[in-house]
Amino acid sequence: MQIIHTVAELRNSLKTRTNIGFVPTMGNLHAGHIALVALAKKHAKTAVVSIFVNPLQFSPTEDLSTYPRTLEADCEKLKAAGCDIVFAPSADEVYPQMTESKSDDNHLNQTMTIDPPPIANVLCGATRLKHFAGVATVVMKLFNMVQPDVAVFGKKDFQQLFIIKEMVRQFNLPIDIIAGETMREAHGLALSSRNGYLTDAQRATASQLNSALQGIVNQVKNGNKDFVQLEQQASAQLTSQGWEVDYISTRSSATLQPASALDKNLIVLGAAKIINKTSGKTRLIDNIELCLTA
Ligand code: PAF
Repeated sequence: MQIIHTVAELRNSLKTRTNIGFVPTMGNLHAGHIALVALAKKHAKTAVVSIFVNPLQFSPTEDLSTYPRTLEADCEKLKAAGCDIVFAPSADEVYPQMTESKSDDNHLNQTMTIDPPPIANVLCGATRLKHFAGVATVVMKLFNMVQPDVAVFGKKDFQQLFIIKEMVRQFNLPIDIIAGETMREAHGLALSSRNGYLTDAQRATASQLNSALQGIVNQVKNGNKDFVQLEQQASAQLTSQGWEVDYISTRSSATLQPASALDKNLIVLGAAKIINKTSGKTRLIDNIELCLTA
C-alpha cells in the first residue's frame, strides 16, 4: 500500500493504474469506513482512500482543531483492508490559494468554491452554514485529483450523499456513486468518528436517537402519516431524555423534500446533541429509510 501526500505523486502513481474506486474520508477510521473500502474493492480494481480533515466544511465554532488525526492507525487498518493507495494531503496541498490569500495585501480568500442548491440549506445545512459548500468543494477537488471510476459514500450522511450525487449529475462527472449501508453498534448507535467524543455513559444512551427515529418508522408503517406530529413527539421524547434536538424530519428519500402522504420511499432523519456538563456537546446524526409497499 502506498501512502502519498502530494497531487504530483498521486498522479504519477495513478498513471499505471486502471479502474479506480475512491473512498474520501477525514480519517479516524472505524468499521463503517472499512466496509466502504470493501465496497470500493468490489466495484473497482484499485482502491484509493483519501484522509483529509477539510477545514472548509467546519464553521469557526466547530471541532476542526480537535478532530482526531490518527494517520498511522488509519493506515494500518487500510492496509489490512486491501487499500492500494492512501492519499493524505496537507491543507496547503489541497487549498494553496488559502495560503496565498493570507499573504496577499487585501487578505481576501481567493478560494473558488462550489455553491450547492438550496437543499444544502435545510436539515444539517440549516445550522451548519456553508458546510455542504465545503464538502462539495473538497469532494470536487478530490475527484479531480484521483479521477475515480466509482466513489463510495456512507448512507449515514444521507444529505451529503444526496448533494454529491446531485453534483456528479449536474456537472456531468463520469463517476458512479455507490452508497454504503450505515454500520451500527449492537444497540443501534450508528458508527461515527465523533462517537469517540462520547463518555461510556453517553455511549450507552446514544442509541436513543436511533430509537426515536425507529419509533416514527414504526408508526408510519402502521399507517400514521401525520409526519409533523410524529416528528414533534420524537423530538419531545429526546428532549426529555436530555438531548438538544437540531431536527427530526421525515422526507422523500428520492428528493429530500418533506414527506407527503403519497410518497412511498421515505427517510426519517435526525440530528441532536448529547449534552455533557464537563465535556460539552456532541452532535450525532442518523437516519432510517423505509419503503411503503401498500
Ligand atoms: O464524510 C466525510 O468524511 C467528509 O464529509 C468527506 C466526504 C470526506 C469530505 O470531507
